[in-house]
Amino acid sequence: MSAGANPGFARGRRLRSTPALRRLTAQTRVAPADLVLPVFVKEGIDSAVPIGSMPGVVQHSHDSLRKAAAEAAEAGIGGLMLFGIPADKDPVGSQADAADGVVNKALQNLRADLGDELVLMADLCLCEYTDHGHCGVVTPAGVVDNDPTLDRYAAVAIAQAQAGAHLVAPSGMMDGQVAAIRAGLDSAAFTETPILAYAAKYASGFYGPFREAAEGAPQFGDRSTYQMDPPNADEALREVAQDLAEGADAVMVKPALPYLDIVARVADAVHVPVSAYQVSGEYAMVEAAAANGWIDRERAILETLTAIRRAGAGQVLTYWAVEAARLLARG
Ligand code: PBG
Repeated sequence: MSAGANPGFARGRRLRSTPALRRLTAQTRVAPADLVLPVFVKEGIDSAVPIGSMPGVVQHSHDSLRKAAAEAAEAGIGGLMLFGIPADKDPVGSQADAADGVVNKALQNLRADLGDELVLMADLCLCEYTDHGHCGVVTPAGVVDNDPTLDRYAAVAIAQAQAGAHLVAPSGMMDGQVAAIRAGLDSAAFTETPILAYAAKYASGFYGPFREAAEGAPQFGDRSTYQMDPPNADEALREVAQDLAEGADAVMVKPALPYLDIVARVADAVHVPVSAYQVSGEYAMVEAAAANGWIDRERAILETLTAIRRAGAGQVLTYWAVEAARLLARG
């Protein structure tokens, strides 16, 4: 018997027949305000420098970043996540908390230009600032030293808040980093500055292009002793619980698309905002396939963002934030 001949037969197609019906019944929406654009600002350059492995993404000069930030605000996105690339690197990453360090200068500029129009977030890590490229200070034996790193993170958090960051986002995966940063911020009277913890951050092959963009590749070893191991899921919930117990205001899962199960489990487990970071390798894969004519680029971009939101992320960090906002506005 055909479905049409049986009026009682469940019919999935009824609600799919027109674009308006599909729009009305869509369970997940992506809005420009959900999107956060990660940006790179490099000391000592006069104009933007393209990043080969991330077509369309650049290392900004201070001026080009100001222009891009104004465009991002115009497009209606939710915020910016700033990464700085200093001219001088040293073992402790001094430029991360220097008041005139590249990222702190950029924060001052953007806060002056934009006020509170966008949420200005600062990635809080040392890997772009250390000469060895690790996310913390290292022992003479070359091991990343957890507790001395926490003091550095607290100092960086205070410098970023002083420079105008609305929110700090520790991404180094040191144990106790949220508590140390909260204590540091509070001691400097930044009691209202929230912490978005990169709580479940995996040691991922998908960060490759970022390391060209941020010039922060480890000069020896890798990040497997501090970032999470890809086979583990329960551990992500432990990391998230720990960060919340230490005072995190919001949590992040990273990368996004290969870890949608983690996004979904974290979103189910907590009652704080959950972000997902669609990382450089996720971006590069789609761009490379599209450049070869193998996929419909715009369709794939919006599908990935929808999938990340559907899994339960409230906010999505994506290098396509501004373009996606424009596509969404176009409808
Ligand atoms: C710094 C940091 C990294 C990314 C964000 N913050 C690199 C890393 O951990 O090696 C990756 C972002 C991306 O790939 O887009 N700790």
